[in-house]
Order: sequence, then structure tokens, then C-alpha cells
Amino acid sequence: MIKINENYLKLQASYLFSEIRRRTDEFQEANADKDIIKLGIGDVTRPLPKACIEAFHRAVDEMANDDTFRGYGPEQGYEFLREKIAKADFQDHGAEISADEIFVSDGAKCDTGNIQEIFSSDTRIAIPDPVYPVYLDTNVMAGRTGSFGDGRFDGITYLESTRENRFIPDLPGENVDLIYLCFPNNPTGTTITRSQLQNWVNFAKENQALILYDAAYESFIQNTELPKSIFEIDGAREVAIEFRSFSKTAGFTGTRCAYTVVPKSCMAYAGNGEAHSVHNLWFRRQSTKFNAVSYPVQRAAEAVYSEEGRAQAQALIDYYLKNAKLIRTEMEALGYECVGGENSPYIWIDGKTDSWQFFDLLLEKAGVVCTPGAGFGKCGEGYIRISAFNNYENVEKAMARIRKALSG
Ligand code: MLT
Repeated sequence: MIKINENYLKLQASYLFSEIRRRTDEFQEANADKDIIKLGIGDVTRPLPKACIEAFHRAVDEMANDDTFRGYGPEQGYEFLREKIAKADFQDHGAEISADEIFVSDGAKCDTGNIQEIFSSDTRIAIPDPVYPVYLDTNVMAGRTGSFGDGRFDGITYLESTRENRFIPDLPGENVDLIYLCFPNNPTGTTITRSQLQNWVNFAKENQALILYDAAYESFIQNTELPKSIFEIDGAREVAIEFRSFSKTAGFTGTRCAYTVVPKSCMAYAGNGEAHSVHNLWFRRQSTKFNAVSYPVQRAAEAVYSEEGRAQAQALIDYYLKNAKLIRTEMEALGYECVGGENSPYIWIDGKTDSWQFFDLLLEKAGVVCTPGAGFGKCGEGYIRISAFNNYENVEKAMARIRKALSG
């Protein structure tokens, strides 16, 4: 008899964004004439930068000729892309990362979800609350948790991000092995300072732990004092892996391109205490289960680093940040406490009521989709997240409707 992985039975019935899509579709079906504005899932709406499109087209044409056609690419990604990433995203910011420490992939979601499988099944996990659900769900699937009750899984150390700690979790009071951090944060939109991040790196060193640092939203950081990469922090090369993505940086959510940085000096340990290179383990995993990103997509991503590409990608970020500013200003004017939206595309709003009820209210009364904070964890209850990814005109319209719905 074929048996299932029963860890799947511990999961919530559906993935958060699938549930939001289901509720939205259901509402739309029942209200066919209603115009719905989606500020829920962080999905970009602006076209790819022109430089990327041109590079994409050129690479597709290369695939049409005998002389320039390419089959399987290198497992870690083409060197032309990895060299540009290493220089522009790390070395130019004082972070000592080389091209052979970069693994190009089809998404930070996949990489943050897959990486846990190279670690022992009894790894003690520390996960923020609220949190991007992928970190938690993938560890549940892997059997690293007990059962679910009262909004929490047994066996996980939750790093609470609340108003009291300004949404930056305190260091865990117990031993943990694998720590998930995300800055600028999804969902709260908060950022971390260099000294706060240094404390986490020091903690990881002292505890032979490893930090999984999700920096998918780093291009939204405007404040030059804030670190863009964990590798700008002393000692991080020994204890951290970083995830980056072109999705939000350059509009690649549908095109798919991201990368993960695994320094060669980063170690994890066997049961007998022997140190092993995490880089080698991840290379082994990726070369077995993944076949790289398509050549034209990697050429399109490379174009982000050209002079025009950089300017065009920056214009996208500026566009969404303008939306974010409008959302935050409007919500604050309505009397709601907000964080995020300054160095991040997400605004975290204290709705002062049940998250899902607030979600329903905005959908039914304003025709606006947000994300209920409770979907990100127990500490998200009472909050909603509004995403700045949409056209400015839609955001203006959405905010006018929300104003009417909440003050009427
Ligand atoms: C989000 O809305 O949190 C993100 O778009 C989800 C993702 O990037 O997978």
C-alpha cells in the first residue's frame, strides 16, 4: 500500500496565497460587476526593463542558430551572470563574495524551501513570527515539527516580531541550529541595522548555527546606512547563506530568476562533529535535482547590471516605493499604525481587529485584496499587509475606496 508523508497532514489546509486567491475568485464570481484591485500577493505589474527584454530577444535568436545554440548550461548558472552578480551586488558593497559562491536558480521561494533538506532532520529551527510561510511549511513537510495547535507548531522556536520589539526579533533564549531571517522583512516591511545583524551573526558563531538570510527585497532599501547583504557583516561568511531574487528587483516574477549565495567558508557538522562544506552539499543537491535556469532568462537577468538596465530597474523600484508611500500615508491618516513601506514594498498595518475580518471588509466594501496578517503567524493576528505592487492609478483608486469604506 502506498503511504503518504503524514507530515503533510499537519499543514494548514492550503498555502496562504492560494487561500487568498480562492476567496477572491469566489467573491468575484458572486459579484461579477465588481472591479477588484489586488494588493495582496507581492506580484509585480510593470513590464520587464527594456534592457532585459532586448537581451532576452537576442538570446532567443541565438537559440535558433547552429553556431550559437546552447543545450544544458552549467549547474550553478552561467559565469557571465555570476561574475556580474558577485561584483555589483557584493564586492562593490565591501562584501567578499566570489562568482563561484553563487548559485543561479528559478526563485528564492524554491531555494528557501529546498535548502532545509541538506540539514539533519533533528535540526532545531528558529523562525520569525510573522513569517513568509514557505520557511515554516517546508520544515513541517520535512518532519521537523510536532503538531499544530493554538496557532503554533510544536518543536519550533518562534522569533516574535511585535510592536514591543519594533518588529525585530530578540535573539533566542535557547539553542537553535538554523535561523531564518528576512530583511527588508516580509511581511512587516521592517529593516535591520548593521549592529542588530552583527548580533545575529555573533549568536550563530557562538552556537555553531547557520543563518538563512532572505534578502529578496534588498533593492527597496533607500537608507544607505542599512546593510543590503548579510555578507557586509563581519564573520557572516562562516555562518550565513543569502537568498536574492530578480523577481521584485527587476520584475521577474513570471520570468523566474534568482540566486543563492553559499560561501565556501560556511560549515555544518556531521553527528561525529566533523565540519562539512555547505557549499559542496548545496552543489551536490542542485546538480542532482535542478538543471539550471534557461539561457535566455540568464541573459535577461545579466542585462539588469548594464548601465541602462540598472537605471530601468531603479525606476521600477522608485515607482513601487511611490505607491508604498501613498498607502502608508493614507492608512496613517485614517488612524492606523503602520510600519514598512519606506525601504520595502510592504506596509504592515495594525487593523485593530481580526485579520481575516479586516480582509473580508476591504474585499467586500472596497473591492481591495490585502493579505491578512494572521496568515503569516500568530503574531500577525490583528494586522493586515498591503502590497505596493500595482499601478499607481490602481493604488490611488484603492486608497480612495478604502478611505470611503473605513470612514463611512
Ligand atoms: C508575498 O506576497 O509574500 C510574495 O510575493 C510571495 C512570494 O514571493 O513568493
